[in-house]
Amino acid sequence: MMKISKVVVIGSGTMGSGIAAQVANAGLQVHLLDLTKDIAIGACERIKNSRPPLLMEDDCLTKIIPGSIENDIDKIKEADWVVEAVVERIDIKKSIYSKIDNLRKPGALVSSNTSSIPLKVLAEDMSDEMKKVFCITHFFNPVRYMRLLELVIGTQNDKEKISDLVTFGDKILGKTVVVCKDSPGFLGNRVGVYAMQVAMTEAFNLGLSVEEADAVFGRPLGIPKTGIFGLYDLIGIDLMSDVLKSFIKELPTSDSFHQVGTELPIIKKLIDDGYTGRKGKGGFFRMNKSSGTKVLESLNYNNYTYSESKKVNLKLPEVMDINKVLNREDVYGKYAWSIMKKTILYASSLVPDVTENFNDIDDAMKCGFNWSKGPFEILNEIGIINFISKLGKDDKIPPFIKQLLDQKKSLFSVAESSLHYFHPKKSYVPMQRAKGVINLSDIKKSSSPLFNNSSASIWEVQGSSRFICVEFHTKANALDGLTNDCLNKAYDLCNEKYDGIVLANDAMQFSAGVNLNYFYDKAVSKKFNEIDLFLNNFQQSLYQLQHATFPVISCPSGLAIGGGYEVVSQTSFVAAHSNSVLGLVETLVGLIPAGGGCKEMLRRWSNHPEIKNDPKLLSLKVFNLIGYATTVDSPSKAKAKQFLGDQDIMVMSRDRLIEEADNIIFANKENYKALESASFTLPGPTIMSEMLDILNELKDKKVIGEHGIEVGKKLGYMLSGGETNPSAILTEQDLYDLEREIFIDLIKQKSTQERIRHTLDTGKPLFN
Ligand code: NAI
Repeated sequence: MMKISKVVVIGSGTMGSGIAAQVANAGLQVHLLDLTKDIAIGACERIKNSRPPLLMEDDCLTKIIPGSIENDIDKIKEADWVVEAVVERIDIKKSIYSKIDNLRKPGALVSSNTSSIPLKVLAEDMSDEMKKVFCITHFFNPVRYMRLLELVIGTQNDKEKISDLVTFGDKILGKTVVVCKDSPGFLGNRVGVYAMQVAMTEAFNLGLSVEEADAVFGRPLGIPKTGIFGLYDLIGIDLMSDVLKSFIKELPTSDSFHQVGTELPIIKKLIDDGYTGRKGKGGFFRMNKSSGTKVLESLNYNNYTYSESKKVNLKLPEVMDINKVLNREDVYGKYAWSIMKKTILYASSLVPDVTENFNDIDDAMKCGFNWSKGPFEILNEIGIINFISKLGKDDKIPPFIKQLLDQKKSLFSVAESSLHYFHPKKSYVPMQRAKGVINLSDIKKSSSPLFNNSSASIWEVQGSSRFICVEFHTKANALDGLTNDCLNKAYDLCNEKYDGIVLANDAMQFSAGVNLNYFYDKAVSKKFNEIDLFLNNFQQSLYQLQHATFPVISCPSGLAIGGGYEVVSQTSFVAAHSNSVLGLVETLVGLIPAGGGCKEMLRRWSNHPEIKNDPKLLSLKVFNLIGYATTVDSPSKAKAKQFLGDQDIMVMSRDRLIEEADNIIFANKENYKALESASFTLPGPTIMSEMLDILNELKDKKVIGEHGIEVGKKLGYMLSGGETNPSAILTEQDLYDLEREIFIDLIKQKSTQERIRHTLDTGKPLFN
């Protein structure tokens, strides 16, 4: 296998800079070339300031070397992989390929990031040698965060060489690589843009407001909450219009894309008036600042006026429950059904000509559009017979679905306890994953949980070891009594007969923390004893896992904050996805971490060279970290703040988290030693005056308000060990007790309850 270590990216716009940043994140040097060096330098500046950040560490920027295509073209001579990401113009792209063809070293791989030009057109003038190694690598924006990489190949390709690029994309760049045929829009955009168009046109047909449409075509269907109109604004209404035009041009008129893809008058009007979405004056939504404050407004597409956007509550389940939504009798149910029906029929019509593997379409939608389930997984949940029975007389059933019906086959089947899927030419074939990958959604389809309740499940996994996987599955994976029951159950099961426990899930967030609704409800009904009991259970479960006689590995990805981070911090090892966000944010809602978060940060910092075993420095250090509700957005940054330790690892690919956890269990199961209980020496009240000075200064600068001082004082009291003194030794349990005491003290206060209510209602912190 060829090692790819030198990379050249040509074109430093949105995509080229994103690709270069991800290559740098992977630790490789990359030359980023544009028409002029200044343009490329500008791109580096944009990378540096990007939000959310494209770089995992600020240092990575030094790995990106800006240059110009004219003066630095020689860099191509050394490159193992040259990726072109210039404007979508065939003539410009081809002129670049002819330069590459002359300069590239034998065997070097070349690809284009085109989203709409066919591979055969791009490759037509190339030398035969270059044709063998040239393919399309279609990344999604923003490159660091979007998992999908479509790799488009043709018959002329040298399969072995291209497979090097597949492995590189997967293991090094951390993408879910879907190999596609050369057909318009490949898989992701073909189905994703179709689904978007259906969602938009059906909303117009049914007369739904933009908010109503987004509320249905969002979380209830397992789709990101930007919905359809929010997504249009985010992508850019003008860009979407170009994308549609290219589909209309490329696809035969018999393709049902034509029924939903022609430009609508409202879209034309918006673009003509400069309403191109978030980057323009606004779009279906706009931020109106004319009154001095920001007001989010939405468009009434019937009369082309804006008015204040209203949140709609459709009383749909918070966690995806597809049949519940589709079976609703009202207009929202009708809307949801019509989108899903058409999307499923359209996706099915692409099998087998565009792809023989329907699950590739599911992967493309999950990784390229962040759907929690792909159209075929949704079809599987609806049931094929049920789906067919709901179709109207005008709905044409595609041959793939007919075949399933005629042969009485389902989409998935299990043989020898492994997942198989229906292949139109070969009947059932084993689900193919990249070598080593342990896929939780496959396990869920091919086995029953060892234990489950409505918040979490336990799955048995056979990797190089036999272990169990605890999966949370609440909204944003918020923690509650039931997730805790599941952790306890896992401990008992593992003690009996497994090699270890892995905490992982396939949702967007590992866990956004303990369910705040629970705390709020208990607080307003003054059931403080119940809160105390809940916290105590939470602490004891985590203590048990942290000091178990077997390894427990957590696999955060997305948010692992508040209680979510407290879980992560009290496992023996962490295999963290490279995009995880970790930290303790409790102070934002007027609370302190009380699931062991304070204790754990004190334990982690106590041995740090910066602290020099000085109890005062220790308390102050952690006071600043938790007081500012610090979060970090990558595992490398997490190590610097001690949110992760030396034994913890970063994993580039989301698909490989459980595999890495399995490797850790395998390496540790024989000689694993339980973590010993920690003891602490803390300064006690003597440090309080210094902490008060910090708080007063922040108050003067208006960084915190009256209640901020109160929360800060209580946090300070906790982190200095309460009434202790430096000669006393405190146990982990002492700190757990103190955490709960302070937590209850704060949650009794009206100002904390106001903060919680505000965050629950708006998603934002309250300044009070
Ligand atoms: P962009 O317009 O942001 O950037 C294009 C860059 O190419 C500019 O910096 C321009 O100066 C440079 N360029 C133009 N001619 C050049 C030449 N002869 N030599 C060197 N550099 C040259 O475009 P964007 O959005 O980054 O798109 C790039 C490619 O990626 C296109 O093929 C597009 O279809 C594709 N794509 C775009 C996606 C998106 O979301 N923007 C998603 C997936 C693919």
